[in-house]
Amino acid sequence: MKKIIALLLLISLSFASQAKPLELLHWWSSKGELNALSYLENVMDRQHSGWETKSIAGAGGKNAMYVLQARAIAGTPPEVAQIEGTDILSWAQLGFVNHLDKLAKTQDWQHTLRPLVTQVNSFEGRYVSLPLTIHRTNWLWLNQAVFKQAHLTPPNTWSDLLVVIHQLKSMGVQPIALGKDSWQISILFENIALGLGGSEYYHNALVDINAATINSAKTHEILSVFRAISLAINKDLTQSTWQQETEKLFQGQAAMQITGDWVIGELNVASEETRNNITCFVAPQTQGNFVFNMDSLISLSGSQHFDQIEQLFEKLSQKTFLHDFNRLKGSIPPRNDIDVSDYNACSQKSNQDYSLSEASNTLLPSMTDSMAIDPRKQRLLVNEIYKYFINTKMTEQAFISNVIAISKIE
Ligand code: BGC
Repeated sequence: MKKIIALLLLISLSFASQAKPLELLHWWSSKGELNALSYLENVMDRQHSGWETKSIAGAGGKNAMYVLQARAIAGTPPEVAQIEGTDILSWAQLGFVNHLDKLAKTQDWQHTLRPLVTQVNSFEGRYVSLPLTIHRTNWLWLNQAVFKQAHLTPPNTWSDLLVVIHQLKSMGVQPIALGKDSWQISILFENIALGLGGSEYYHNALVDINAATINSAKTHEILSVFRAISLAINKDLTQSTWQQETEKLFQGQAAMQITGDWVIGELNVASEETRNNITCFVAPQTQGNFVFNMDSLISLSGSQHFDQIEQLFEKLSQKTFLHDFNRLKGSIPPRNDIDVSDYNACSQKSNQDYSLSEASNTLLPSMTDSMAIDPRKQRLLVNEIYKYFINTKMTEQAFISNVIAISKIE
């Protein structure tokens, strides 16, 4: 009898383990992202290790964050989740994540991670997340064939860019690859703010949300350029995702895109002709600054499988994995001991510029991508920027007052 019970228990346990694989929740869904993810899945040995990956696409990761929150409240969180910047702190403050001290020690993170990466992935002096990527968001991507055909030169300033927008429009070409999507629009705003305001303005306005900076002549100037772009392209915007817009850029249906270097991930799976035709420039007037966004993974506390999580994290923090994954993803590695000389030329530039910005203290966190401010304020601010862009009747003063009100939220 005892034997039968033991057997039943074994069968039910093996069913239980079959029924509930270990889960890594993320928001990657474009062709390039899935290409990088499939490399990660190979390394995790998805077929045999009991791990599965689950994508909650959309809204620049916001949808995945909502699902993560809801599942944590319901008591059924995934074992591991993709996360960014200040969201890491919120989860760590609540005590919902496991610290990674052992891994940090074996991988000598203290010395092998870039200093800013340590800062972003730590809470109260302990590592609480595994760093995977460093993306740059102040890029202008350009379709050279379209520019050549239109006899246009790449814009160096925001006023050049406005002229180019109107020229392209008059020729029936979509000037900017952009969807009606708050985070895509907010990245455009960040770039204008940095380009026209410089790094000190950017920091005061989008990291500190300083009321005097928000209520300044500079903000009016930035808003007027943002509005001018909106008036030129707003009517034609559709609800498309960033990757659908990138595809338009690749196909020559759009001329430019202002977004992060996840575009390189798409180039990695595009034709050689496309790879030669799409080029990158640092976004107008933002040269010398590096706006960063990082992807990390957290291990949610309460899981009975921390051993397996540690084993996975060990694999995902190896030099070879980080080298290959970041090359596919279009980002640069979070460690400072990885050679990127076989990366795409734009990634190599990103790597050089990161070091220069690190030395000159001009690395800036992307507010849109959750690297700068408290997640609640970030969501409200991104929404405010979106509203201002879409509703062309909204006044500059209304925007300024709303942002100051957001800054006062405790
Ligand atoms: C993530 C990137 C991702 C991009 C577009 C960003 O928030 O950090 O990894 O490729 O969103 O989906």
